[in-house]
Amino acid sequence: MLTTRPRGTADILPGQVEHWQYIEDMAVRVCREYGYREIRTPIFEHTELFVRGVGESTDIVEKEMYTFQDRGERSITLRPEGTASVVRAYLENKLYAGPQPVKAYYIGPMFRYDRPQAGRYRQFHQFGVEVFGAQQPAVDAEVMALAMDFYGRLGLNDLELHINSLGCPTCRIVVREKLQQFFKPVLGELCPNCQSRYARNPLRILDCKSTRCTELALEAPTTVDCLCPECRTHFEQVQQYMLDLGIPYVLDKQLVRGLDYYTHTAFEIMSPDIGAQSSVGGGGRYNGLIEACGGPPTPGIGFALGLERILLTLQKRGKLPNIQAGPVVFLVAVGDRAVRESFSLLARLRAAGVAADMDYQGRSLKAQMKYAGKLGVRYAVIIGEDELKRGSVMLRDMDAGGQREIPAGEVIGALKDN
Ligand code: HAM
Repeated sequence: MLTTRPRGTADILPGQVEHWQYIEDMAVRVCREYGYREIRTPIFEHTELFVRGVGESTDIVEKEMYTFQDRGERSITLRPEGTASVVRAYLENKLYAGPQPVKAYYIGPMFRYDRPQAGRYRQFHQFGVEVFGAQQPAVDAEVMALAMDFYGRLGLNDLELHINSLGCPTCRIVVREKLQQFFKPVLGELCPNCQSRYARNPLRILDCKSTRCTELALEAPTTVDCLCPECRTHFEQVQQYMLDLGIPYVLDKQLVRGLDYYTHTAFEIMSPDIGAQSSVGGGGRYNGLIEACGGPPTPGIGFALGLERILLTLQKRGKLPNIQAGPVVFLVAVGDRAVRESFSLLARLRAAGVAADMDYQGRSLKAQMKYAGKLGVRYAVIIGEDELKRGSVMLRDMDAGGQREIPAGEVIGALKDN
């Protein structure tokens, strides 16, 4: 146990973390350009928030939450997603009283107790955005455009964007009835899970992965067929904006999301090359959620993208950049006096903004050079007795292989611009 991490979690080691930083930096940059500002909420919340927010009949709430009693006997849950927390923060901090819309983004770990497999973990990471207080269909398009722009900048230009409209509560009553009528004659053929969904939330039957349910659902009525005139117009305008932006999408009438709060536009982004867990991101509108959490009626929309799945896709496609994150310069010192000189040169190099390191193992010259090679530094600065006597250092270009002797006083200037 002491040397084994819990199932479904991962260590992100030096050498790997640079790729995470690359993706996260891209998210930050894109959000800045779109006018979204970062929000950080706690990793855990009162359980009730997710039960209410995500929905009682969802897989997340029914079987995937990390819930525990804290020492004060409160029921606490590690966040399974970010939207409910951001809504809570919006209400608690009365952000609705400030300028609207509020456009926020977050990057961080989420927790779901699910069966781990490739692309599915118990602790995973999301980059998400949420917009509160904007009803216009252009915002739906902006949110989807932001997601696609982010993928595009990482070199993932051909991911599939699936969109659908789930309508408003009025449309939902109609579709619910139609679905119940449709599935009634075949109720016995549905999987046990869907049989219980039939009464509670028949829309979720469309999302079932079992072969028989999928077959039966092929001809089922869809939400798009049941939209009220207002929702229909909204969805048409969203699609028009997507066309205007030149962002391709698939109209996927079977798309329903796994969380209960969605209304109107819902979308998912698929990566065909990472196996069963192909959804690299998803989101949509949730115009009733803020009110359901006790706030004023406020429209909301957002998405969350799974960073592990993005990384897997980038890996599969060989799109991860080569990032040299270690020191640029290694000081190779031989002899006590040289070590002392090197140690103070090291501090001056770092103060000048040069990423530098030196040996702390008492290695021989040859072993230090070998180690410098392993670190992948661009330059080695060699200081031995002879160099000390001459007040110079040997500057070795590790890539090109050549070396030259330069006055010790010039070394910082020579390395500063590398
Ligand atoms: P979600 O579809 O549950 O939506 O999750 C979004 C993304 O997180 C998924 O598409 C997937 O890439 C990633 N993800 C989910 N579960 C796992 C897991 N166990 N392991 C690895 N990656 C996973 C939400 O969470 C909503 N809060 C999105 C949203 C924001 N809707 C509106 N605003």
